[in-house]
Amino acid sequence: MTKLEELRQNYLEEVDRASSESELEQVRVSALGKKGTITLELRKLGSMDPEQRKEIAPQLNSLKVDVTQAISSKKEALVDKELEEQLQKEWLDVTLPGRSRRQGSIHPVSQTIEQAVAIFSDMGFSYAEGPQIETDWYNFDALNMPPEHPARQEHDTFFIKSDSKTAKNPNVLRTHTSPVQIRSMTNQGVPIRIIAPGRVYRCDYDQTHTPMFHQIEGLAIDKHLNMAHLKWTLEEFCRTFFEVKNVELRFRASHFPFTEPSAEVDIRCSWEKDQLKIGEGNDWLEILGCGMVHPNVLKACNVDPDKYQGFAFGMGLDRIAMLKYGIPDLRSFFESDIRWLRHYGFLPVDVPSLHSGLSL
Ligand code: PHE
Repeated sequence: MTKLEELRQNYLEEVDRASSESELEQVRVSALGKKGTITLELRKLGSMDPEQRKEIAPQLNSLKVDVTQAISSKKEALVDKELEEQLQKEWLDVTLPGRSRRQGSIHPVSQTIEQAVAIFSDMGFSYAEGPQIETDWYNFDALNMPPEHPARQEHDTFFIKSDSKTAKNPNVLRTHTSPVQIRSMTNQGVPIRIIAPGRVYRCDYDQTHTPMFHQIEGLAIDKHLNMAHLKWTLEEFCRTFFEVKNVELRFRASHFPFTEPSAEVDIRCSWEKDQLKIGEGNDWLEILGCGMVHPNVLKACNVDPDKYQGFAFGMGLDRIAMLKYGIPDLRSFFESDIRWLRHYGFLPVDVPSLHSGLSL
């Protein structure tokens, strides 16, 4: 083997063995640097006689070219390897675009509450709230249901332990929003016009009943209010809420201890091929209970029933949501199934108001 071939073999092997860029640089300096072996060999060409130079120069040149090429392709391979290792270690690539998240949606019950509040506010009702854990005085006694009253049993009440020092009876999870009537009248006095949406609880469970559901209470007390005002208020509400010009309501005589006279209200509708239409057809669906506030309820709030009178109603919010949006099973409202929520939910920007399509 000639000296040059030996050099070529050595350097190509060294290049191959280099495992980092700095090792590779050392090989380059020792071969092609200012004092590198190949550089020195090239320098010797000048002092050779022409014949010898003619023979050696091309061999030296090709040696230089080969080693240079081997170094540069090894360098590329090392850079790739280093990047690969870095990518393995640093899996977080901050230059990647972010993953977009699915937008949440507004539950149909929340949307229904917002709509009802918008409509009643426009009629001059203000918003009131009460606690979900009530004393049995607010939930029953003050509403003309003393302890022995049979209507108490119809409420399927959930009882809750109360502070035995101050209360004779256990607390309850409120069975209706009517206790807010009492709280509002005792706090604000009369005349008064309020609505109070919220959660209520009864021990009941089937396709149209869940142990927790929503009601909206309405109360209007003044000197001259009568049943015609009640009727107009409810008809106007339904017309606006269901976005149907001709709603027909049927007032059926009924009984509630806290109203006299009392009525249950049905809305005219039709079922066609599983499609519910409000305002036409021969079916009736019950949506609320109402009546003129009983004098005993006024007395419990220190309001003089000889001077003041008015009406109250309690409407099932989930019921009217089911009717408006054609949702067949009440239980699905509270299962938190994300697919159901995506289907029936509303966009957060879809804020109900009378100027965004609610009014007729
Ligand atoms: N509180 C009654 C119920 O839950 C509804 C109602 C409210 C009836 C106000 C009359 C007046 O069934």
